[in-house]
Amino acid sequence: MNLPPYHTFPTIPGDRVTLRQILPSDIKDLIEISFYDAIQATTIEQAAEMQDKINQDYLDGNSIHWGIIVNETNTISGTCGYYRGLDRGEGELGCVMLPQFRGLGLMTEAMQLAIDFGLQDIGLKRVWAITTNQNDKAIKLLERLNFIKIADLEDNEIEYEVRTDIG
Ligand SMILES: CC(C)(COP(=O)(O)OP(=O)(O)OC[C@H]1O[C@@H](n2cnc3c(N)ncnc32)[C@H](O)[C@@H]1OP(=O)(O)O)[C@@H](O)C(=O)NCCC(=O)NCCS
Repeated sequence: MNLPPYHTFPTIPGDRVTLRQILPSDIKDLIEISFYDAIQATTIEQAAEMQDKINQDYLDGNSIHWGIIVNETNTISGTCGYYRGLDRGEGELGCVMLPQFRGLGLMTEAMQLAIDFGLQDIGLKRVWAITTNQNDKAIKLLERLNFIKIADLEDNEIEYEVRTDIG
């Protein structure tokens, strides 16, 4: 297992997007998709406070939160990352795209980069994601990425996973 924090924050380049550390200059673009403990930021100050907590979680080895950069334009389009479970050799993967960047296939590529990093570089044995029965776009995304539904949870939530032993 190769848990965070790392000597340098991992930047992961792909064909259309690159995952990189979130910079203070990104925060203003991410307010509407800034969440912590399921609370959504409404101001730049709240989003910055949340980012500080996320940075601390990374330093504590519990989380890696990437910005998703569109290579062609060098703009930030969303975020994804691991938010729980790393200490057990597992990772809960989450993601949010800014509305104007949805429907372009960018999150599929970003999530694949994050999954590969989790399984190959961190050495996770399992990556899981939780969404709701009504979240068609998230379900399509996870199924495109070969996640398998493994549980119906309370409050219409469903759990999906990818494991190393089943590819
Ligand atoms: C879930 C979420 C990230 C999905 O975003 P998305 O843009 O649909 O996902 P992708 O980037 O993979 O794009 C796939 C769509 O782009 C389309 N697309 C267009 N051009 C494409 C291309 N060149 N390559 C691949 N797909 C392309 C696909 O057909 C697909 O559309 P469809 O869903 O209508 O079939 C987004 O809806 C979101 O941020 N929701 C709020 C947060 C959330 O629910 N997170 C999930 C937690 S698990």
